Amino acid sequence: MGIGRFGVMTSGGDAPGMNAAVRAVFRMANHLGLEAVGIQDGYQGLLNGQLLSVSDQQLEGIERRGGTILGTSRSSEFRTPRGLDQALMQLQQHNIEALVVIGGEGSFQGALSLHRRGFQVVGVPASIDNDVGGTAVAIGVDTAINTALDALDKLKDTASAFRRAFVVEVMGRHSGWIALQSAIAAGADMVLIPEVPYQVETVMQRLREAKASGKSHFILVAAEGVKPTATELSAQITGRADVPFESRLTILGHIQRGGSPTAFDRLLAARLGARAAEELAAGRPGTVIGLRNMQTVTTPLEDATKEPKHFNPETHRFAEILAG
Ligand code: F6P
Repeated sequence: MGIGRFGVMTSGGDAPGMNAAVRAVFRMANHLGLEAVGIQDGYQGLLNGQLLSVSDQQLEGIERRGGTILGTSRSSEFRTPRGLDQALMQLQQHNIEALVVIGGEGSFQGALSLHRRGFQVVGVPASIDNDVGGTAVAIGVDTAINTALDALDKLKDTASAFRRAFVVEVMGRHSGWIALQSAIAAGADMVLIPEVPYQVETVMQRLREAKASGKSHFILVAAEGVKPTATELSAQITGRADVPFESRLTILGHIQRGGSPTAFDRLLAARLGARAAEELAAGRPGTVIGLRNMQTVTTPLEDATKEPKHFNPETHRFAEILAG
């Protein structure tokens, strides 16, 4: 059986393309004759009963805007049994029969808790870290990689002008996705990711080899989650008399979360958002809508939240070989 009124929320770290997904959910709902209502500030807003009616006018042009018009949050309160009860009470009070949750791994854990309590939920993966199950690629990943790539290209110019090394920290507390992809695309000299521990001495040796082979610069891309950190590593490189490069550190930080989404992210968001509303209308909740083999697919929430992280050893091997 289908549903009448449902809520739409964005949750966790914002990702470019979230707005395009919100727009797609609302437009498809309208087409199917369903009533969609916005929930502000993710799960925290749900706990507080912060609803937002979204007009057609408010949806105009948002596909090209970064951030999220609905707002987002990371709610520790929602993760408690009391928080979950409170959320279910708010949903009931506001006659919301189902939810579309646009977010990443943590957001889908929340969606799974609701689903286990018998509430109808559909997840739409959006996270620049690409650490969400149920899809080959999440909304926001492509834009974030392009932002990192743009910075790496520019840093290469100044690095070679000064014959320096640059250690560039990109986002990814637990995931090396942005680091690996942007490093390959930028032709970086080395990449460090949390999934593969590294030795400082290996980096030092690579720097010496690069200098000996006549390289004018050395670009090292490090994910946020590596140990020692990018900051510690850069300082060590500069402090070492036996390493022929001086190093500068660049931390790209939250710039990677913002900006106008790429065509790929807008299209992905449009397809996943539209399919999410269709699934609810057809009475098939409890899934994550994803993209695999270029097709939209559904995966049960239970399975999607258990999927291993997207780490491709082949891509890592290629990055090592193609470096420099
Ligand atoms: O959006 C994912 C992510 O960017 C991680 O890579 C990063 O560690 C984290 O979010 C930081 O987000 P915040 O500062 O919002 O907690």
